[in-house]
This record gives sequence, structure tokens and C-alpha cells, in this order.
Amino acid sequence: PKEKGWLTPYLYLYQSFWYSPTEIQAINNFQNHFQAKDNDVIIASVPKSGTTWLKALTYAIVNRQHFPSPENHPLLNYNSHELVPPFELVIYDDIYHGKIHDLSNMTEPRLFGTHIPFTSLAKSIEETNCKIIYICRNLFDTFISTWIFVNKIMPEILPTLPLEEAFERYCKGVIGYGPSWNHILGYWKESVARPSKVLFLKYEDLKEDINFNVKKIAEFLDFPFTKEEENDGVIENIIKLCSFEKMKELKVNKYGTMGEGRIVENRYFFRKAEIGDWVNYLSPAMVEKLSKIIEEKLSGSVPSRLLTS
Ligand code: A3P
Repeated sequence: PKEKGWLTPYLYLYQSFWYSPTEIQAINNFQNHFQAKDNDVIIASVPKSGTTWLKALTYAIVNRQHFPSPENHPLLNYNSHELVPPFELVIYDDIYHGKIHDLSNMTEPRLFGTHIPFTSLAKSIEETNCKIIYICRNLFDTFISTWIFVNKIMPEILPTLPLEEAFERYCKGVIGYGPSWNHILGYWKESVARPSKVLFLKYEDLKEDINFNVKKIAEFLDFPFTKEEENDGVIENIIKLCSFEKMKELKVNKYGTMGEGRIVENRYFFRKAEIGDWVNYLSPAMVEKLSKIIEEKLSGSVPSRLLTS
């Protein structure tokens, strides 16, 4: 099956999710070639759910011994997507790179990102003890964040997609890596079945209590903070370094770009970072329609915070 796309003219249904043809190619490469290690960490998400933030936090947590001083931290000079490369958009994307990346020089623990649904991950991820941290976000906000992102970065490639049209496609599940509710459900089920393998986080929870969640991530990854570190303000430093206010103002994120071929400006990854911005865009009828779909698709399995907040 084929449908009109968002970032690309068409999206294709592959293993029950929607992708552009180049993404399907990359997913195939990934499934055939990626060999996970027991200490790998994978940051997984639906796009626009807080991936940039979670990647920065995870990078800062696992590398804190290498970079004890916040003044010369790699996160000051590199966007977190560069430090935590995504499988399908960088490592196994043979359009931009013409070859498969050599991963042998990566420092361990290796950190990767992905928007690929759980059921389409490379087999070795399931078979090893590597860990996955998943972040999801209220789907109203995720949808609006995506719509604005797509319209900002793509005007030269695709005409601006009117909100109503984007919304109708979204409600049919047609969006890259969608249907989003099935994406969330897949990781959520695995986090319940294997809590030591998959940590399921929510953007709104991180906004509400970042201190608690940074400790939770560190413990999940077997990098718990010592009492000494807590007293020395190590957690506070990580939180500050990765905060929206700090990251948004960094030179690399104000003026830098990422990608080869299709260049994306880093600044588009930092917009408002607010909870509930959807009220400024969605009509009551839209809210009702999407609420019904999500309720039906998730049937009470995922915390109801995903519906509205
Ligand atoms: P908004 O468009 O609602 O502002 P992703 O990183 O998955 O692409 O998600 C992008 C969303 O996360 C954007 O939401 C962006 O502003 C927000 N974001 C980026 N960096 C953040 C940070 N350090 N802390 C909190 N939110 C952040």
C-alpha cells in the first residue's frame, strides 16, 4: 500500500508501519547488518517526542566520568543527534553515505538512536542484553510539533501541508514510522514484559520531575549516581547542560546543521518545548476525533497522560 507522505511524496506500508522508500532500504540494511553488544544503549521514539533531550541526558549520564567539567563537554559543541547517531537516518542510510558505517571505533557503551518500531528492530537487539530507553509524548503535541517541523524544513521540497490535511493523514496512521499509537504500544508492551530491557519514559514526566528521571535512567543503565556525586551537584549539572534553555542557545544548535544530502538546521529541533501547545492549533472537533482514535487503539493500556495534558 502507498499513501501521500509528509517529508516525501509517498509513504509505503512496510512491516505494518509507514516509511519513505529510503527509510525502508535503511531498515533492511540495519536488520541485516547490525550486531548489538550487551552494553549498547538505544534511544527509541516516535519523531518529535523529546528524542533530542533524552539523547543528551543519556550521553551526559553514561559519559560523566570522562567529562567531569561542564565547561568543555562535547554537548556544548555537538548536537545530541551527532553524538547518538540514528540507525536508519545515518548509520544504515546508504543514499547519503554510499556505504555502511564502520562502528568498530565507537567508544563503549555505544549509544544509538532510532525511530524504528520495536517489532522491526534487528534481531541481535532482542537476543543480547543491550538496553532500550523509549520516550513518548502526548500525541496532540507530537502531531503539532511534527507538522511545524515538516513545514519549516521542507518548503523547498514539498509545498506546505495544510493542518487539516496533515491531521486527516495522521488520523489514518499515515506519518513516517506511524501509526504512532502502534509504535508506542509495541515498546510499552516490551517494557512491561522485560522491564530490565526497556525503560518506558514520558516527555511530560521528564518535564515534571527531571531529577527523579535522570536518576531513574542512570539506575536502569547500571550507572547509578553515588551519594558523593549527588552531593557534588553532578545531577544538577547534567540537568542544566541538557536543559532546553541551555541547548537552544548553544552556537552549534543556533547555527549548525546536520546530515549530508538533505541538510537540516539544528535550530529546528528546539522550538517551544511546552506541554499542551496543541490548544493553539487543534479545533474541538479535531481533539474529539483524535482522542477517540487513540482511546480505541490504545484501549487503556498506556497511561492516559498520552491523550491530553
Ligand atoms: P516542540 O516542537 O513542541 O517545541 P525530538 O527531539 O524528538 O525531535 O522532539 C522535539 C521536541 O522536543 C520539540 O518540541 C522541542 O522543542 C523539544 N525539545 C528539544 N530539546 C529539548 C530539551 N532539551 N528539553 C525539553 N524539550 C526539548
